[in-house]
Formats: sequence, structure tokens, C-alpha cells
Amino acid sequence: MAKSKKVQTVYVCQECGYDSPKWMGQCICGAWNSMVEEKIRPAEEDSRRRTGSVTAGAGGAARAGKPVPLAQVRSGESSRMDTMIPELNRVLGGGLVKGSLTLISGEPGIGKSTIILQAAANIAEKYGSVLYVSGEESEEQIKMRADRICGRIPENLFILSETNMENIILQQENIKPSFLIIDSIQTMYSEALDSAPGSVSQVRLCGNELMRIGKGFELPVLIVCHVTKSGDLAGPKIVEHLVDTVLHFSGERSQDLRIIRSLKNRFGTTNEIGAFEMCENGLQGVENLSASLMEDMASSSEGSIATAVYEGTRPLIMEIQALTSDAGPGFARRTAIGVEHNRLNMILAVLERRAGISLAMQDVYVNIVGGLRPEGTASDLAVALAVYSSYTRKTPPAMTIALGEIGLTGELRSVQHTDKIMREAARMGFKRIIMPEKNAAKLKAMAPAGFEIIGVKTLREALQVFS
Ligand code: TYD
Ligand code: MG
Repeated sequence: MAKSKKVQTVYVCQECGYDSPKWMGQCICGAWNSMVEEKIRPAEEDSRRRTGSVTAGAGGAARAGKPVPLAQVRSGESSRMDTMIPELNRVLGGGLVKGSLTLISGEPGIGKSTIILQAAANIAEKYGSVLYVSGEESEEQIKMRADRICGRIPENLFILSETNMENIILQQENIKPSFLIIDSIQTMYSEALDSAPGSVSQVRLCGNELMRIGKGFELPVLIVCHVTKSGDLAGPKIVEHLVDTVLHFSGERSQDLRIIRSLKNRFGTTNEIGAFEMCENGLQGVENLSASLMEDMASSSEGSIATAVYEGTRPLIMEIQALTSDAGPGFARRTAIGVEHNRLNMILAVLERRAGISLAMQDVYVNIVGGLRPEGTASDLAVALAVYSSYTRKTPPAMTIALGEIGLTGELRSVQHTDKIMREAARMGFKRIIMPEKNAAKLKAMAPAGFEIIGVKTLREALQVFS
């Protein structure tokens, strides 16, 4: 390919991907100081970058615009691919949709490459050839991992250790895989641009190119994306807009539990989570997540109480632990794992006012066992009760779940899906739930025999369970 020597400097917004020949303090998208300098190739080649096509493949041409009646468009549901990993299917909304782009992000070493390889082997077995492109590891390294996690490596699982987009496209057209994997987009580059792999314009061009392949050949494309220190996706936001699904892999690396959450999903809900355990032979799905989140709840202990959240389509029961201890000189410490810091401060303030305890000279530690970070406010009451229990050295009643959002005046606000939470709690052997009065009134009639529902209006009322 004849390369033009002329190179231009442009400034590209990391938020929206907009480029300008001049540096701008504020981009047209409104973001401040988001522009980074990049070298690009001018005019004729640049136009290809804008149309998002490096090579005009069969697929690209096939999609050229022609309106079709919506009613005649084939429904996507039938064309989902089963990854044979139930927990992954669940977050995806039932499997990988053909022609879709899925982004998977997460910290290094969390298990992205592992889960992808597992899915790749399953799909190769069931649907035909799979192309796994890695810009991070050599073929031998991937083989070593595959030996650990796949019982038998399918013949049609192809590995390509490559970072050049043009060659990837070529190989994709040779193999015609039914599933394409790019690990990771930050290592890929196109010759059409002079900028380094991982730069905004490279990531944008490669992302566009992969979308063209996916849509054109109707194959699902899975892209690994690095995260920055703050946990955002590295590279331009534009990739997030481009793809259909964004999955985020999280968990404590020191612990075995891994959670996949979907942050965006054009083909399903975004509040579904998938749980895995990192084992000797790869990631194993955890179906009974509640059980693995509970340490030993049968005997009650000071500063510990169970709560429940409703994630996606299933209730999850988890243990909240709190510890208060006399603070040293200076400010008292507030440390929370799994509970948002501001939320904890608010709960502590309400607790001080309503329960008449003083936490100003107390260090407070709160931990959700298992490294889960539930969204929403349904676990407020459990946090308050756990802290109160540790401070007063009173043990909460055993096998009890506390549920409810705490308002600033100490009132308890109702939470959703309490019926399903109750059923799960009873199934796991819990004896009672403390919950907002409003929820309790509706639930009492359907409580299983021997299961106690305690309705409370305020935090102060809820503290009565300790006496
Ligand atoms: P990996 O999938 O390479 O992470 P990522 O691609 O997100 O950077 O996972 C690497 C970690 O997982 C590594 O620390 C070892 C561990 N691991 C296991 O515990 N068991 C296994 O079977 C495999 C393959 C990896
Ligand atoms: Mg990896």
C-alpha cells in the first residue's frame, strides 16, 4: 500500500471523538480539556476513515442503504447464539445476537480472556469456526490457557496473534468464522492512520471496521476493552456508543467471586448480573449466588445482618458486616466496601439522630461479604442495623433479613420485589424479614407458615428488634 508522506496534526475529543484542526478548550460536545493531539493522514485517505471503511468488503457493500418495511425485517430473537455459559447468556439477554458488537471490560487479570476463550470453544463446538484474535498474548500462551480450561479443544477454533486490522480483515474473510473475538481493541491498529494503537482515532476506526464486519457478515463480534484507573473504558466514548452491548467484569482479584454486569444492552435488560467463580479450570458459573454470599448466617453475630437486593430477574441475599471502634486522634475513619461512601455517611447521620448514639469518635467499617456492590438503596436498613449492633454490642436476631431505604427523617421507604425476596429467603432457611410497613402489609397474607414479617415505619422502630 502506497503511503502518503503528508501527515496532519488534529485534536480529537476523547469524549465524543470529534476532531478539529485547532485545539479547543471545550469541545462541541461540552466536555472540557478533552482534546488530545493526534497525527492523521489527510484528505483522500481520511475520507475512508470517516466512512469507517478500510477495505470495501462484500459485507460493507451489502448493507448500503435501502429502506425496508420494518414489519418485514427478520426478528433478531431467532438468531441468538448460545454461549453454553448460562450466567453469560443471562447478562447478554439470552445469548449473543448475530451481527452485534459486544464490549467486555474489566481490570487486568480479572478473567476477560478466560471467559471469552470458554465461550469461543463452546461456540466453535456448536456453531462452526471461531476466530480469536489476540494482540496481547501469543498463540502458545492461549494454548496453555485452553489446555487448562477446555476439555477438548475444537478443531475449528482459530487463534490469530495479530494487531494489524487489515490482516485481521483478510483472515476473517478467509476463515469466515461464525464468531469473532478481538482481545483487545487498544492493541489494534489500521495502516490507514499514522497514530499509535490505542489512540482515539485508531480505536474509533478499528471499532467502526469491526462493526462493518459484524453487521456485514452477520456474526457476533466480541471486543475486549481496557479500563482506566478510575474504572472507565479507556479510549473514546464513541466506542461505547457504537457497540450494542457493554459488559463489565468486576470482583476482588484476591477473592474468587466475579460478577459480570451489563452497562448497556440493546437486546436485553441492563440490571441482570452473572456470577462466576475463578477455579483451577477457568470460570465456573455460580447459580446459587445467595448461598456463596453468606458466610455463616446460621449463628447470629454482633455487627452482622443479612439483606437482599433484586438484581435483574433474581433476588440476592447477602451479608452486611459492620464494625465500630474507638477512633484514634484526628478524624474518625469511615471505610466501606460495597456500600457507597456518601450513602454510608447519610445512614450514620440518621442513625446518630434517631437512635441517639454518637459515632463522631468512632471508626466505622462496613463490608458486604463476597465483594458484591449492590445498586439501589434497599440495603440501607441492614447497614444501619449492622452498625448499631456493633456499637451497642447487641446481637441481632438470627436468620433475619433487613430491607428498606432510609429517608433523612428516619422513615423507611418501601422497596420493590419484596415478594420474590421473601420466597428466596424462606427457601434459604431464613426465619423473618424486617421491612417497611407498606411492603409488610401486602406480604403478610402470602408469607409461608412459620415465616415472620415485621413491618416497621421508622428506623427507631426497627431498632426494637434488638430488645
Ligand atoms: P485473564 O483471563 O488472563 O484476565 P484478563 O484477560 O482479564 O486480563 O485471567 C487471568 C487470571 O485468572 C490469572 O491471574 C490466573 C487466573 N486463572 C485461574 O485462576 N484459573 C484459570 O483456569 C485461568 C485460565 C486463569
Ligand atoms: Mg487478557
